[in-house]
Amino acid sequence: MPITSWNVVLIINFTTVVGVFGCLTNSLFPNEDPNIPAIAKYFCTKGRYEEVNPHLIRDILSVNTSILQPPSDQCRQIHLTAIIRHGTRYPTTKNVKKMQSFYKLVRSSATAKRNWLREIQTQWRMWYTEDMDGRLVQKGVDDLRYLAIRLSKLFPSMISEENLRGGRVKFITSSKHRCVNSTLSFKAGLTELWDIRDTEFDHAVNDALMRFFDRCTRFLQEVDNNPSAATEVDKFKQGPEMRRVQQKIADRLGVPYSLITDDMAEAAFYMCAYEFAIKTVNSPWCQLFDEVDAQVMEYSIDLKQFWKRGYGYDINSKSSCILFHDVFSRLDQAVAENKLDQQVTEAVTVQVGHAETLLPLLTLLGFFKDDDIPTSTNYASQARRSFRTSHMLPYAANLLLVLYDCGGGDLRLQPLLNEKPVAFPGLNDEPAASMPLYRDVRERYRDLLDGCDFETECQLFKNPSDA
Ligand SMILES: *[C@@H]1O[C@H](CO)[C@@H](O)[C@H](O)[C@H]1NC(C)=O
Ligand SMILES: *[C@@H]1O[C@H](CO)[C@@H](O)[C@H](O)[C@H]1NC(C)=O
Repeated sequence: MPITSWNVVLIINFTTVVGVFGCLTNSLFPNEDPNIPAIAKYFCTKGRYEEVNPHLIRDILSVNTSILQPPSDQCRQIHLTAIIRHGTRYPTTKNVKKMQSFYKLVRSSATAKRNWLREIQTQWRMWYTEDMDGRLVQKGVDDLRYLAIRLSKLFPSMISEENLRGGRVKFITSSKHRCVNSTLSFKAGLTELWDIRDTEFDHAVNDALMRFFDRCTRFLQEVDNNPSAATEVDKFKQGPEMRRVQQKIADRLGVPYSLITDDMAEAAFYMCAYEFAIKTVNSPWCQLFDEVDAQVMEYSIDLKQFWKRGYGYDINSKSSCILFHDVFSRLDQAVAENKLDQQVTEAVTVQVGHAETLLPLLTLLGFFKDDDIPTSTNYASQARRSFRTSHMLPYAANLLLVLYDCGGGDLRLQPLLNEKPVAFPGLNDEPAASMPLYRDVRERYRDLLDGCDFETECQLFKNPSDA
């Protein structure tokens, strides 16, 4: 039998992705692990971190230090700031209620004859309760523990036992239980790694920094509590793409179309997403969606994030001015201490918050900005958008800023998102794209460094003329 080049490619994929034995017994498609829902890469902010870094599925501690590629051997890391979203969590009370009512509907009204539906109706138990209220789950504890260990391998001179014991690693967290628990889990990853039992390490709770969105009056009034700010989202949910998804769910269940509202479709999507994120199971709920449907659900959620936290309104990103200045003042301080040949007092800063903490900051910095804005009517042309919360903001998502001294006053700043180097937007024509000079980064954000005042931006009436 002739071996075509297509076969060769397939065989190579087989052996690298599932291993020789896996490929013979599991499935014909090398990338389709039966334990991973086919739609797992569309779960947006309910997504698993491993979906954006698939090599971690095989080895959760694998690290490749050569991704950093400093321009010369002389480059030394002098400071690292890590802004990290909490790990995998239970649904919030609001979503638990939606999931419970969808489950009731499926139990009482679904008439289709399918094995997975029988499984839902006879074996699956509704185990989500309202008191879970968004708390961290065991998987979320592991997300942060393993992240801490990987970062200590990626940046061994920064996240080191010496720096930790010397008080040069600072921890700041949002007051939410899932964030405090994530911070403790990150610290536990390090203390277990180095077998430290004689010392405890503090963390500061700081909601002004990590939950700035709760304190920005203008944002609350004009966007968060303003129903008309999300008009495009509402229109999309009433539009033809979403209606088709709802009808397909109704057909699969064997219920009248009128029973599956956009809220019900969302609850169904969460069922699949949470069962996977929390328990790593490909649950029967996932059979309610094919990939086309999941892409529509993903768009609907991305639309909401775009208008309520991203580029949709200027105040969304400006609400993070306080965090922006906090980060840059720390970088400036590290530069100043380093210039005097002093040891940088805060070698590492770990800041734990929310998707709503990271997204406004990423937006302020200009990441993932597409030419066209996503609306209720341009779903098809947004298929290749870069603004995708599934890629940007899974559980334990992180923005890392690494400051290097490359000798002779050559200071560089490298941004990484989810442990992968990214380029500052507008600075990617530099030769060392992902490690520009720190002064060029400061120049790029000059207007923000000179302005972007939280108090001023967040006042309801910014100029007298607005009043
Ligand atoms: C590590 O990263 C480098 C640079 O991106 C890449 O060339 C290399 O293949 C990676 N190694 C592994 C084992 O993934
Ligand atoms: C953190 O969350 C885990 C998983 O829910 C829980 O078992 C643990 O008690 C929590 N830790 C703290 C310190 O609250």
